[in-house]
Amino acid sequence: MSDRVFILPLWIRLWHWTNAALILLLTITGASLHFADPKLPLVPFELSARIHDIAGLALAALYLVFVVANVVTGNWWQYVPKPGGFVERCKNQIVFYCWGIFRGAPHPYPPTAEANFNSLQQIIYWIVMYLLMPILIVTGLIFLWPDFAPKRVMGMDGLVPVALLHYLTAVLIVSFMIAHIYLGTTGTKVSSLFKMMITGWHEH
Ligand code: HEM
Repeated sequence: MSDRVFILPLWIRLWHWTNAALILLLTITGASLHFADPKLPLVPFELSARIHDIAGLALAALYLVFVVANVVTGNWWQYVPKPGGFVERCKNQIVFYCWGIFRGAPHPYPPTAEANFNSLQQIIYWIVMYLLMPILIVTGLIFLWPDFAPKRVMGMDGLVPVALLHYLTAVLIVSFMIAHIYLGTTGTKVSSLFKMMITGWHEH
Protein backbone atom coordinates (compact mmCIF):
# COMPACT_ATOMS: atom_id res chain seq x y z
CA MET A 1 0.00 0.00 0.00
CA SER A 2 1.46 3.38 -0.93
CA ASP A 3 1.48 6.39 1.41
CA ARG A 4 -1.41 8.77 0.89
CA VAL A 5 -1.92 12.36 1.95
CA PHE A 6 -5.17 14.33 1.56
CA ILE A 7 -4.33 17.64 -0.13
CA LEU A 8 -7.32 18.83 -2.18
CA PRO A 9 -10.60 20.02 -0.64
CA LEU A 10 -13.79 19.46 -2.62
CA TRP A 11 -14.13 23.09 -3.78
CA ILE A 12 -10.74 23.00 -5.55
CA ARG A 13 -11.65 19.74 -7.32
CA LEU A 14 -15.07 21.04 -8.38
CA TRP A 15 -13.54 24.33 -9.55
CA HIS A 16 -10.77 22.51 -11.46
CA TRP A 17 -12.98 20.18 -13.49
CA THR A 18 -15.64 22.82 -14.23
CA ASN A 19 -12.85 25.18 -15.33
CA ALA A 20 -11.26 22.44 -17.50
CA ALA A 21 -14.63 21.59 -19.14
CA LEU A 22 -15.33 25.27 -19.90
CA ILE A 23 -11.83 25.83 -21.32
CA LEU A 24 -12.22 22.77 -23.57
CA LEU A 25 -15.60 24.02 -24.79
CA LEU A 26 -14.17 27.51 -25.36
CA THR A 27 -11.18 26.02 -27.23
CA ILE A 28 -13.36 24.04 -29.65
CA THR A 29 -15.83 26.87 -30.30
CA GLY A 30 -13.04 29.51 -30.30
CA ALA A 31 -11.06 27.54 -32.91
CA SER A 32 -14.23 27.13 -34.94
CA LEU A 33 -14.84 30.91 -34.86
CA HIS A 34 -11.21 31.85 -35.51
CA PHE A 35 -10.72 29.50 -38.45
CA ALA A 36 -14.28 29.95 -39.68
CA ASP A 37 -14.85 28.57 -43.16
CA PRO A 38 -18.49 28.74 -44.27
CA LYS A 39 -18.03 25.55 -46.33
CA LEU A 40 -16.27 23.55 -43.62
CA PRO A 41 -17.48 24.63 -40.19
CA LEU A 42 -16.15 22.61 -37.22
CA VAL A 43 -19.29 23.82 -35.46
CA PRO A 44 -21.81 26.09 -37.31
CA PHE A 45 -20.77 29.74 -36.84
CA GLU A 46 -23.91 31.01 -35.08
CA LEU A 47 -23.96 28.05 -32.71
CA SER A 48 -20.23 28.43 -31.95
CA ALA A 49 -20.67 32.14 -31.20
CA ARG A 50 -23.63 31.45 -28.90
CA ILE A 51 -21.84 28.63 -26.99
CA HIS A 52 -18.58 30.64 -26.80
CA ASP A 53 -20.40 33.66 -25.29
CA ILE A 54 -22.26 31.60 -22.69
CA ALA A 55 -19.22 29.48 -21.74
CA GLY A 56 -17.11 32.67 -21.54
CA LEU A 57 -19.58 34.29 -19.13
CA ALA A 58 -19.65 31.08 -17.06
CA LEU A 59 -15.81 31.06 -17.00
CA ALA A 60 -15.76 34.71 -15.81
CA ALA A 61 -18.22 33.88 -12.99
CA LEU A 62 -16.24 30.75 -12.06
CA TYR A 63 -13.01 32.75 -12.02
CA LEU A 64 -14.58 35.19 -9.55
CA VAL A 65 -15.54 32.23 -7.32
CA PHE A 66 -11.95 30.90 -7.66
CA VAL A 67 -10.40 34.22 -6.55
CA VAL A 68 -12.83 34.74 -3.63
CA ALA A 69 -12.43 31.10 -2.44
CA ASN A 70 -8.62 31.41 -2.66
CA VAL A 71 -8.67 34.58 -0.55
CA VAL A 72 -11.19 33.25 2.00
CA THR A 73 -9.44 29.87 2.50
CA GLY A 74 -5.87 31.25 2.26
CA ASN A 75 -5.18 28.82 -0.63
CA TRP A 76 -3.72 31.75 -2.67
CA TRP A 77 -0.51 31.31 -0.63
CA GLN A 78 0.14 27.96 -2.39
CA TYR A 79 0.68 29.90 -5.64
CA VAL A 80 3.24 32.35 -4.24
CA PRO A 81 6.87 31.46 -5.17
CA LYS A 82 8.82 31.18 -1.91
CA PRO A 83 12.35 32.70 -1.63
CA GLY A 84 15.43 30.78 -0.48
CA GLY A 85 16.56 28.73 -3.49
CA PHE A 86 13.48 29.21 -5.72
CA VAL A 87 15.51 29.19 -8.97
CA GLU A 88 17.52 26.18 -7.78
CA ARG A 89 14.29 24.27 -6.97
CA CYS A 90 12.85 25.10 -10.43
CA LYS A 91 16.08 23.88 -12.03
CA ASN A 92 15.95 20.60 -10.06
CA GLN A 93 12.34 20.10 -11.11
CA ILE A 94 13.15 20.69 -14.80
CA VAL A 95 16.13 18.29 -14.60
CA PHE A 96 13.78 15.72 -13.02
CA TYR A 97 11.19 16.07 -15.83
CA CYS A 98 13.84 15.93 -18.60
CA TRP A 99 16.15 13.29 -17.14
CA GLY A 100 15.47 11.81 -13.68
CA ILE A 101 11.93 10.70 -14.46
CA PHE A 102 13.19 8.42 -17.26
CA ARG A 103 15.64 6.74 -14.86
CA GLY A 104 13.20 6.10 -12.00
CA ALA A 105 14.52 8.96 -9.80
CA PRO A 106 12.17 10.01 -6.96
CA HIS A 107 10.14 13.25 -7.28
CA PRO A 108 12.42 15.97 -5.87
CA TYR A 109 9.61 17.84 -4.05
CA PRO A 110 6.60 15.60 -3.35
CA PRO A 111 3.49 17.56 -2.30
CA THR A 112 2.41 17.93 1.33
CA ALA A 113 -0.82 19.44 2.71
CA GLU A 114 1.13 22.67 3.47
CA ALA A 115 3.09 22.86 0.19
CA ASN A 116 0.87 21.40 -2.50
CA PHE A 117 2.91 22.75 -5.47
CA ASN A 118 6.58 22.39 -6.37
CA SER A 119 8.34 25.67 -7.30
CA LEU A 120 7.84 25.18 -11.05
CA GLN A 121 4.10 24.58 -10.54
CA GLN A 122 3.92 27.67 -8.30
CA ILE A 123 5.32 30.03 -10.92
CA ILE A 124 3.47 28.48 -13.89
CA TYR A 125 0.10 28.14 -12.11
CA TRP A 126 0.52 31.71 -10.81
CA ILE A 127 1.15 33.06 -14.34
CA VAL A 128 -1.79 31.08 -15.77
CA MET A 129 -4.32 31.79 -13.01
CA TYR A 130 -3.40 35.34 -11.98
CA LEU A 131 -2.04 36.84 -15.22
CA LEU A 132 -3.27 34.99 -18.33
CA MET A 133 -6.78 34.10 -17.13
CA PRO A 134 -7.66 37.72 -16.12
CA ILE A 135 -6.38 39.00 -19.50
CA LEU A 136 -8.35 36.29 -21.36
CA ILE A 137 -11.53 37.03 -19.42
CA VAL A 138 -11.35 40.85 -19.51
CA THR A 139 -10.61 40.90 -23.27
CA GLY A 140 -13.44 38.40 -23.82
CA LEU A 141 -15.87 40.59 -21.86
CA ILE A 142 -14.81 43.66 -23.87
CA PHE A 143 -15.55 41.68 -27.05
CA LEU A 144 -19.04 40.99 -25.70
CA TRP A 145 -19.56 44.67 -24.82
CA PRO A 146 -17.34 46.49 -27.36
CA ASP A 147 -18.48 49.93 -26.13
CA PHE A 148 -15.94 49.40 -23.31
CA ALA A 149 -13.05 49.12 -25.82
CA PRO A 150 -10.90 52.23 -26.34
CA LYS A 151 -11.94 54.02 -29.55
CA ARG A 152 -8.42 54.03 -31.03
CA VAL A 153 -5.02 52.67 -29.90
CA MET A 154 -1.86 53.85 -31.71
CA GLY A 155 -3.90 54.76 -34.78
CA MET A 156 -5.70 51.37 -34.90
CA ASP A 157 -9.31 50.54 -34.11
CA GLY A 158 -9.38 49.97 -30.32
CA LEU A 159 -10.72 46.42 -30.75
CA VAL A 160 -7.59 45.26 -32.65
CA PRO A 161 -5.28 45.07 -29.58
CA VAL A 162 -8.17 43.51 -27.60
CA ALA A 163 -8.56 40.80 -30.27
CA LEU A 164 -4.79 40.20 -30.40
CA LEU A 165 -4.47 39.88 -26.62
CA HIS A 166 -7.51 37.57 -26.45
CA TYR A 167 -6.12 35.29 -29.15
CA LEU A 168 -2.56 35.26 -27.75
CA THR A 169 -3.63 34.47 -24.17
CA ALA A 170 -5.97 31.75 -25.50
CA VAL A 171 -3.06 30.17 -27.44
CA LEU A 172 -0.85 30.32 -24.32
CA ILE A 173 -3.55 28.76 -22.11
CA VAL A 174 -4.24 25.96 -24.62
CA SER A 175 -0.46 25.31 -24.89
CA PHE A 176 -0.30 25.23 -21.08
CA MET A 177 -3.20 22.77 -21.01
CA ILE A 178 -1.44 20.36 -23.41
CA ALA A 179 1.82 20.40 -21.37
CA HIS A 180 -0.24 20.25 -18.14
CA ILE A 181 -2.05 17.07 -19.25
CA TYR A 182 1.29 15.44 -20.16
CA LEU A 183 2.78 16.40 -16.76
CA GLY A 184 -0.41 15.02 -15.18
CA THR A 185 0.81 11.56 -16.25
CA THR A 186 4.05 11.86 -14.22
CA GLY A 187 2.66 10.73 -10.84
CA THR A 188 3.40 7.41 -9.11
CA LYS A 189 1.28 5.76 -11.81
CA VAL A 190 0.11 7.35 -15.09
CA SER A 191 -3.36 7.75 -13.61
CA SER A 192 -2.35 8.84 -10.04
CA LEU A 193 -2.51 12.64 -10.47
CA PHE A 194 -5.80 12.51 -12.43
CA LYS A 195 -7.23 10.33 -9.64
CA MET A 196 -5.91 12.81 -7.07
CA MET A 197 -7.78 15.66 -8.81
CA ILE A 198 -10.96 13.57 -8.39
CA THR A 199 -10.50 12.13 -4.86
CA GLY A 200 -8.23 14.76 -3.26
CA TRP A 201 -5.74 12.09 -2.08
CA HIS A 202 -2.13 12.22 -3.29
CA GLU A 203 -0.29 8.87 -3.51
CA HIS A 204 3.46 9.03 -2.82
C1 HEM B 1 -8.78 18.39 -19.65
C2 HEM B 1 -8.02 19.32 -19.14
C3 HEM B 1 -7.24 19.18 -17.84
C4 HEM B 1 -6.79 18.06 -17.21
C5 HEM B 1 -6.93 16.59 -17.66
C6 HEM B 1 -6.09 18.50 -16.01
C7 HEM B 1 -5.45 17.68 -15.09
C8 HEM B 1 -4.84 18.10 -13.91
C9 HEM B 1 -4.07 17.27 -13.02
C10 HEM B 1 -3.79 15.78 -13.23
C11 HEM B 1 -3.64 18.04 -11.99
C12 HEM B 1 -2.74 17.63 -10.83
C13 HEM B 1 -1.34 18.01 -11.26
C14 HEM B 1 -0.26 17.86 -10.21
O1 HEM B 1 -0.48 18.10 -9.03
O2 HEM B 1 0.87 17.59 -10.60
C15 HEM B 1 -4.16 19.38 -12.20
C16 HEM B 1 -3.98 20.45 -11.35
C17 HEM B 1 -4.29 21.76 -11.68
N1 HEM B 1 -4.80 22.21 -12.87
FE1 HEM B 1 -5.47 21.04 -14.38
N2 HEM B 1 -6.17 19.86 -15.94
C18 HEM B 1 -6.85 20.31 -17.04
C19 HEM B 1 -7.11 21.63 -17.37
C20 HEM B 1 -6.70 22.72 -16.64
C21 HEM B 1 -6.86 24.09 -17.05
C22 HEM B 1 -7.51 24.53 -18.36
C23 HEM B 1 -6.35 24.87 -16.05
C24 HEM B 1 -6.24 26.37 -15.96
C25 HEM B 1 -6.51 27.22 -16.92
C26 HEM B 1 -5.86 23.99 -15.01
C27 HEM B 1 -5.28 24.41 -13.83
C28 HEM B 1 -4.86 23.59 -12.83
C29 HEM B 1 -4.38 24.05 -11.53
C30 HEM B 1 -4.29 25.51 -11.06
C31 HEM B 1 -4.05 22.89 -10.80
C32 HEM B 1 -3.58 22.84 -9.35
C33 HEM B 1 -4.83 22.72 -8.47
C34 HEM B 1 -4.49 22.58 -7.00
O3 HEM B 1 -3.84 21.59 -6.65
O4 HEM B 1 -4.87 23.47 -6.21
N3 HEM B 1 -6.08 22.69 -15.40
N4 HEM B 1 -4.86 19.39 -13.41
